[in-house]
Amino acid sequence: MDIRSADTHPATEPADGIVAVVIGASGGLGAAITDALMARSDVQHIFAVSRSLQSPDSPRVTRLAAEVTDPSSLARLVDSVRANTERVDLLITCIGILHGGDGEPALGPEKSLQQLDADRFARVMAVNALAPLQILDAFTPLLRRGRRPVAATLSAMVGSIGDNRLGGWYSYRMSKAALNMGLRTAAIELARPRGARDASGEAPATPIVVAVHPGTTATALSAPFLRNRSARSPEQSAQYLLSVLDSLSAADTGKFFNWDGRELPW
Ligand SMILES: NC(=O)c1ccc[n+]([C@@H]2O[C@H](COP(=O)([O-])OP(=O)(O)OC[C@H]3O[C@@H](n4cnc5c(N)ncnc54)[C@H](OP(=O)(O)O)[C@@H]3O)[C@@H](O)[C@H]2O)c1
Repeated sequence: MDIRSADTHPATEPADGIVAVVIGASGGLGAAITDALMARSDVQHIFAVSRSLQSPDSPRVTRLAAEVTDPSSLARLVDSVRANTERVDLLITCIGILHGGDGEPALGPEKSLQQLDADRFARVMAVNALAPLQILDAFTPLLRRGRRPVAATLSAMVGSIGDNRLGGWYSYRMSKAALNMGLRTAAIELARPRGARDASGEAPATPIVVAVHPGTTATALSAPFLRNRSARSPEQSAQYLLSVLDSLSAADTGKFFNWDGRELPW
């Protein structure tokens, strides 16, 4: 899918606010995070990325369509963002699949080993584990120019090996565990001076790379599994998540955080 800008408002210059990119901006959490960022006076501009193009709803939001699992579409997306801003201060990746509610063939989480299916497993891994790392890689040059740049990816508590007491959901659990390991590894790589890619005069910044568990939130992803369980609204979860991201320091790179700011076991 090609990238098409739906909004003619570029990031205004000069300005001191946060330049944010939200990937998966039409999902339950991605949309709520985009809205929460729009409401903040310290946010200069938001690039809201989704597979489907949406209508512009604010002068400070550029809506972009991209298929982020496709490297060439991802590269065009980054070119499109770079055409409007020299830096990205906040990258929040909100994509993820758990079941087939997205028009996918039956992707429902497996309850037993016997239900493991190679195609389904590969699809879940591609979206949940590989794509967020390729997104991080693609945006690293812009994050390197950011101010206290943060690259946050929505993971899930069920990806914690140490916390796994219930079993089940093989592909989803494994994809989130793989995502967590990938983010931790990327945090180490990006913190190395030789990991810097920008040879401009200014010292490139080191992105703070974190995995974040949003907590059970009422979205299309969680809907089939909520039954009588309580869930926060996407709006509530977005506020909690942004509070966690606001509080991060350089020492937090490579960590896995709960929605309430608590560090989680891998
Ligand atoms: N809801 C919860 O209780 C909960 C709990 C723990 C973790 N999480 C995690 O939070 C994240 C957001 O989930 P959500 O609850 O907001 O779910 P959601 O409403 O179903 O949104 C899913 C998002 O994933 C993207 N997506 C789905 N299939 C994709 C594909 N094939 N290629 C690229 N992107 C794809 C969608 O992007 P588009 O914008 O392009 O449609 C959408 O933004 C996920 O990583 C999920 O694992 C959620």
